[in-house]
Amino acid sequence: MCGIIGYVGEQDAAPILIDGLRRLEYRGYDSVGIAVLEDSGGIAVRKSEGRLVSLTSILEESWPHGRQGIGHTRWATHGRPSDANAHPHTDCTGTLVVIHNGIVENHRDLRARLEAAGHAFNSDTDTEVIPHLLEEHLKDGTDLHDALAQAIEELAGAHAILTMSASEPGVIVAGRKGNAGGVTIGYGEDEMFIASDLPALLPHTQRLVFLEDGDTVLIRGREATYRNHGVAVEREPQEVGLDPVSAAKGNFKHFMQKEIAEQAEVVLDTLRGRALFGESRVDLDDMARFCELLPQVRRVLLTGMGTSLHAAMIGRHYFEQIAGLPAECDNASEMRYRGAPIGPETLVVSVSQSGETVDTLAAMNEAKERGCPQVTICNVPGSQSSRVADAVVYTRCGPEIGVASTKTYLASITALYLLACYSAQELGVVDRERLGGFLEPLARLPKLVGETLTHDSIIEGIANEYYQHENFLFLARGIQYPVAMEGALKLKEVSYIHAEGYPAGEMKHGPIALIDRDMPVIAICLRDALRDKMMSNIEQVKAREGIVIALATEGDRELEEKADHVIYVPETSPLLAPILASIPLQAFSYHVALRRGCDVDQPRNLAKTVTVE
Ligand code: M6R
Repeated sequence: MCGIIGYVGEQDAAPILIDGLRRLEYRGYDSVGIAVLEDSGGIAVRKSEGRLVSLTSILEESWPHGRQGIGHTRWATHGRPSDANAHPHTDCTGTLVVIHNGIVENHRDLRARLEAAGHAFNSDTDTEVIPHLLEEHLKDGTDLHDALAQAIEELAGAHAILTMSASEPGVIVAGRKGNAGGVTIGYGEDEMFIASDLPALLPHTQRLVFLEDGDTVLIRGREATYRNHGVAVEREPQEVGLDPVSAAKGNFKHFMQKEIAEQAEVVLDTLRGRALFGESRVDLDDMARFCELLPQVRRVLLTGMGTSLHAAMIGRHYFEQIAGLPAECDNASEMRYRGAPIGPETLVVSVSQSGETVDTLAAMNEAKERGCPQVTICNVPGSQSSRVADAVVYTRCGPEIGVASTKTYLASITALYLLACYSAQELGVVDRERLGGFLEPLARLPKLVGETLTHDSIIEGIANEYYQHENFLFLARGIQYPVAMEGALKLKEVSYIHAEGYPAGEMKHGPIALIDRDMPVIAICLRDALRDKMMSNIEQVKAREGIVIALATEGDRELEEKADHVIYVPETSPLLAPILASIPLQAFSYHVALRRGCDVDQPRNLAKTVTVE
């Protein structure tokens, strides 16, 4: 969950590390630290509880100078956020430093063993066993690369580690075990960068190596030497061709605001060159393996976590309605332990913005073991999920920095729609005309997303009226039900308001007891086969003096008589309507959170990518 950065080169390392941490702060932000190997030969560690700003104020008083260093922004798992628990951690000599992402599951045993051998610990973290373990291995006369390769084998759990030592100047060693988030090596001109995520690398270089599970790497000068489980391997840098500008805030106040505003373009980019309207065909890259496996598929199981799960829930309707395949959706953290009877006849479709979410990867690995064909929807080239799956449909959003997913959610739904169309096409279950019918509304979709975004000031007005309420209910039916779930999730995470998303039919089975004039109900009531059912639910809320904020299709004036407020979204096909309906709900949570004085880009307790269980 944490952000990791490293630098070796000719420039002053500390400013580069701080800039990298600023770009990675969305990964975790309860404490932060750097270590620099100073030109004098000593290791300087500066760290602090709190956000990056608390570290920069320490640095203003004493700025370490040296040309290599490592930095970390933390999301606490073991040991509360504090100065002592912040990374980097050192060995007993203070000449070796480590930063780490993951959980050392056997840290108690290791710590007991190391303490018995005379090591003194300074923190409550699981991480601190790593520098002491390295110190032990180095006593045997091994070098840092060997020491990390050996130590990592002793650590239970999944890990991403960076280390350096004053006794090996010019060297940083990194390792990756399991799925604790990525470690990517960036090749500069005369310098090397290491980071957990692309936003910290892209301003410097696009030539990257993504460490594989079991890899360790020694970086010295411009060279990187790789091993996998101790055996030398070659890893060629690849050019990723991503735009660093899209990771900057530009003229927007917040990343969340910017990322919501970008969505018309993001949907267009996800469709570009894939939905071939003239030919009534879908063209996706690198699908040969998928097409080979597709004929054996009899059903689809979609999975993901959080917002990505909600996208997957919408995708379920696409596979059923477009490709005619029975489809289910399961939370990845449940699927991984469920022992579901799946095999080569089940196509597993995972959705993960980062491609590094631990539960989603575990569910994918489980599916792989059972021989399921797999395709993943992902935003990060080279991520773990893109390696596990047989095929990837990238969402092409550029980095998403706001911790609350917005643009990647819309793009994931769009990609799922394309994938369902592609599957139908390749299975031959739709003729050209029918497929053309599914594709046609996509052509106007980016424009309609843009139009939906223009209602922002109306939504801001409603947010201003209701931001002090402590509970919200989101109701919808059918394909809009996941949109209600996502609306509630967005509000919870950025404004800390309690919110629940329910299928409206469920309301009478319990939630109706909550309804009174203090409980705003956001009802998604677009013009589709279930609109009249939703209208009845709205009547039931009003009969109990509930407040109704309704989402309606443009032109549906009837709702104005029933609801307290109506937010209109443009008409599109019922299958694509969830994309448009999601936008006002994103904007609503953004404005509510701002009025409540919350940090919309870095909400408390959250991290962008959840790499621990
Ligand atoms: O990277 P992923 O899409 O796999 O992340 C899954 C969830 O952690 C994520 O969607 C989370 O729920 C959102 N950031 C919330 O807005």
